[in-house]
Amino acid sequence: MTEKYDIFLSPPHMGGEELKYIHEAFESNYIAPHGSMIDAFERDMAELTGFPHAVAVSSGTAAMHLVMYILGVRPGDEVFSSSLTFIGSISPVLFLGGVPVFIDSDSTTWNMDLNLLSKEMEYCARKNRLPKVVVSTDIYGQCNSIYDLLQICNRYEVPLVIDAAESLGAEYKNIDGRSDRDGLRALIYSFNGNKIITTSGGGMIVSDDGLLVEYARKLASQAREPFPHYEHIEVGYNCRMSNILAAIGRGQLQVLPERVAQKKKIYNYYFQALHEIPGIDFMPEGPFGISNKWLTVILITPDLFGADREQVRNALEAERIESRPVWKPMHMQPIFTNDSSSLKKTYRARTVGGKISEDLFNRGLCLPSGTALTEDDLDRIIHVIGKQRKNG
Ligand SMILES: Cc1ncc(COP(=O)(O)O)c(C=O)c1O
Repeated sequence: MTEKYDIFLSPPHMGGEELKYIHEAFESNYIAPHGSMIDAFERDMAELTGFPHAVAVSSGTAAMHLVMYILGVRPGDEVFSSSLTFIGSISPVLFLGGVPVFIDSDSTTWNMDLNLLSKEMEYCARKNRLPKVVVSTDIYGQCNSIYDLLQICNRYEVPLVIDAAESLGAEYKNIDGRSDRDGLRALIYSFNGNKIITTSGGGMIVSDDGLLVEYARKLASQAREPFPHYEHIEVGYNCRMSNILAAIGRGQLQVLPERVAQKKKIYNYYFQALHEIPGIDFMPEGPFGISNKWLTVILITPDLFGADREQVRNALEAERIESRPVWKPMHMQPIFTNDSSSLKKTYRARTVGGKISEDLFNRGLCLPSGTALTEDDLDRIIHVIGKQRKNG
């Protein structure tokens, strides 16, 4: 099969030790959804993230599904979510019959706007219909302010979950030096092929709450009761990570610091080459964290630059270079707006604000950010972008 691109957006990048761990898993004959690789991968992730409990599952979406179920999301319950996110962040709410409430982005971080969140919580509290959970996505590797999120969520006793699928390796600095995280019930991660490290597919839940993680572990294994025979008093899922994929994850975790450093280098390379060009702006970084720069993302203002986001994307595509528009906000998706004749089913949702994420979608372009990119590759990409500018 011939590849469509010479340069992909964010392809997998193996570190070298993955095969060693896979061989170990083969030698132990644990070609199964349990085994020593899973145990070690969970331990390593707990240590890295600073949360004492972790469970590995088959995807980030499965991780979110389990957490939403455990936190009690049931038909008709509202869940506040970032509108600027990937569908896997929110589809678990739909699986459970819940109703998403999409909160717009803050233009200074692109993450969930905390003022809008605060106002909507206050409004819902007055109406006596608080959401079951708040899920904030760390967009493109940039953390939201957990401290501020908790100030709001704890005031109304609504649990907070962080969708950290894109932000493994990012740093969160608590500006007030407070480390209290009561109310933060879980973080979910993804090890999908495009993420900063990958197991080809996979996910993880980490939490301070050992009971939550143990319950997730049970639900992910068909909710089997601890009997010698198969006994079921509730229905679960079948979404544990396999021991083989956990072996890949262990090898990948070893190179995470290198991958983060390389992502930052790539960002800086693009920044140096492009930031002075009128009509190009880079995704901003909040004061409370250091992004892992999973993807370098730019905003293109056509009047100043001389071409719009799609023209630049198409020019890159013509040169066999993959780039992608910023996530299309959830509140614009046909499944919620009911504006496509090919829809199989529509879903109820509410939206709070929306203009900021709409603008980010219209002008935003994710540039190739694979950690194996060479300077020649980057120069090639920069050259194509530069040619699109006014008088370029
Ligand atoms: C923000 C976000 N949430 C959730 C997911 C879902 O993860 P997965 O693809 O592993 O199901 C992803 C990525 O794929 C993501 O980027």
